[in-house]
Order: sequence, then structure tokens, then C-alpha cells
Amino acid sequence: QALRAFAHALPKVELHVHLVGSASLPTVLELARRRPSAGVPTDERDLAEFFTFRDFAHFLTVYLAVTSLVRDRHDVHTLVAGLAADLAAHNCRYAEVTVTPYNHLLDGVSGDDLLTGLETGRARAAELGVELAWCFDIPGEKGSRAGQETLVFALRERPEGLVSFGLGGPELGVGRAQFEPYFTRAREAGLHSVPHAGETTGSATIWSALHDLGAERIGHGTSCAADPALLEHLAAHRIPLEVCPTSNVRTGQVPDITAHPVRRMLDHGVVVTLNTDDPPMFGATLTGEYVAVAEALGLTAAELGRLAENAVDASFLDEQRKAVLR
Ligand code: HPA
Ligand code: ZN
Repeated sequence: QALRAFAHALPKVELHVHLVGSASLPTVLELARRRPSAGVPTDERDLAEFFTFRDFAHFLTVYLAVTSLVRDRHDVHTLVAGLAADLAAHNCRYAEVTVTPYNHLLDGVSGDDLLTGLETGRARAAELGVELAWCFDIPGEKGSRAGQETLVFALRERPEGLVSFGLGGPELGVGRAQFEPYFTRAREAGLHSVPHAGETTGSATIWSALHDLGAERIGHGTSCAADPALLEHLAAHRIPLEVCPTSNVRTGQVPDITAHPVRRMLDHGVVVTLNTDDPPMFGATLTGEYVAVAEALGLTAAELGRLAENAVDASFLDEQRKAVLR
């Protein structure tokens, strides 16, 4: 109980949360009732069932169904403002939020609506004392077309707060290296490289993210734990991992939090940050991730504080603003 109070009060930073996946259950229900043809349940009990994932592929199917509920700038604003309120409630002062423009554009949302919704939502977040930054990511399963379109959209629009370029979706059968040209150009334009890697496949995917995509942080990186040379590399180069423990349990990557390789990562000196990924879909909160890991690993309050500081250090804030958050 004292630990939960401490974790809640701890000023936190979130580095791995997907905008669509952050929609609260009431928000999903509201959007689903407006568009019943999308196949997302409009009843609370059915939605809980809908959010019970058989495996990662099933999760992605559900995730894309929820994505299809987003139709205009008001929907985008609703998502961003809702996420900001949830972050504020958990004492999270800054978040880098992953947005997947290509999926929304394919669903018929105009670029203008997407950008306007993001910007008005970001302004609302600032009123709540939460600073938001954006990561635009490629839905990897849609291939090089998605890479190209995401790059063009990011560099042409360059919305305020856009700091990074990512890669999500399935890893199996979706090699990281094919996206090298888009990451190279995004990095040349000053965006940071933060691909998902090693969530559902082995450490070779993480090596590829580092070598081919110039990854500065790794989304998940769970499978590094089985590769001593990689653990050493990540620690030596201080490449942070965006660890999402509850997400990994709920998509079946690890049986429970106590079996999560986060302990091994920490023991090898890897910079670990704790994150929620898709919080209501996984029944996760940022406070809850800190509590769960502290309990599973027997961490002290000071050690938890250090994990929160890791997230500040690993963020793409400038040094001045990092100093304020530390
Ligand atoms: N991995 C890949 N794609 C995703 C995820 C994830 O954790 N969440 C939403 N899209
Ligand atoms: Zn993710």
C-alpha cells in the first residue's frame, strides 16, 4: 500500500504508449456505439471479453478494429485529451505518444483532421500540466508503402512536438531492415529512431533495429535477455529499453510479471524504462507497472525512483527540461 502510494506520487514519464491503445473503455464504447459496423462491442461486458487476447496476432486484429473507430478530428481530440487526463491522474508529466498516421489515412481520416486533433489535444494536455510529444510510426505489416507514406507525412507536416520515428505491428515475417531507407531519411531530418523490436521475435530483430534502423531506444526489447552479447551492447551504449511488462503478459510473451526478463536486464546494467503500451486494452496503468515490477523484483522505493529517472534520461526532452523533471 505504501509502495503504491509512493509509485503514484512519483513524477513519471511515459515513453511507450500508442494513442489508439490509450482509449479508455468508456471512450471505446462511445466511439463503438457511434459506428456499430466496425465490429467493436458496444456493451461493457463484451468489450472486456474483446480485450482478452489469445496471442499477439489476435491483439493486433483487435487493435486495428479499434483504430477503425477513429473517423475525424473530434475523435482524435477525444483520444488525446482522454490520454492526457489519465496521465495527469497518474502523475505523469511528459509522454512520447505513438501515432500511426498511415492507418488513419487508410481509414479515410484526412491528414488535416489528424493533425488538428493532435494539436488541439496537445494544447488540452498542456492545460492539465502534461507535455505531449509524438512518435509517428510505420505499421510494419503494410510494408514499404506504409514506410514511404509515413515518412512523407512526417517530414511534410512536421507537427509541433514530433520527436521520433517508429515501427510497430508484427515482427514475425516483417524484417526491420526493409525500412532502412525511411529511417535513414527520418534521422537525417532530425527525428529520433525508436522501432519496436524483440517483443515477439528473438534478439536478431533487436540487432537489426540497431544496425539497420539506427535505433536510439528499443520498443520492448524483451528478447535481449537471451543474448548476453546484446545485453552487454545495450548496457555499454546506454540504449534504453521501453519495457511494457503487463503488455507482454497480456499478449502471451511471458507467463507473468515474475517471469519477465526485466530482472536480467537490470542485473546487466541495461537502462530500463517502464511503460504501458496500450493501457486500457491490457488493464495497465503507469503506476501499476511500477508497483508490479517493484513487487515482482523486491525493489526498494529508491530503486523505483531510479527507474522513473531512467525514463527522464531516455526521453527526447532537452537537458533543461530533463533537469526540471528529475
Ligand atoms: N507492438 C506492435 N504494434 C503495436 C503494439 C505493440 O506493442 N501496440 C500497438 N501496436
Ligand atoms: Zn507498442
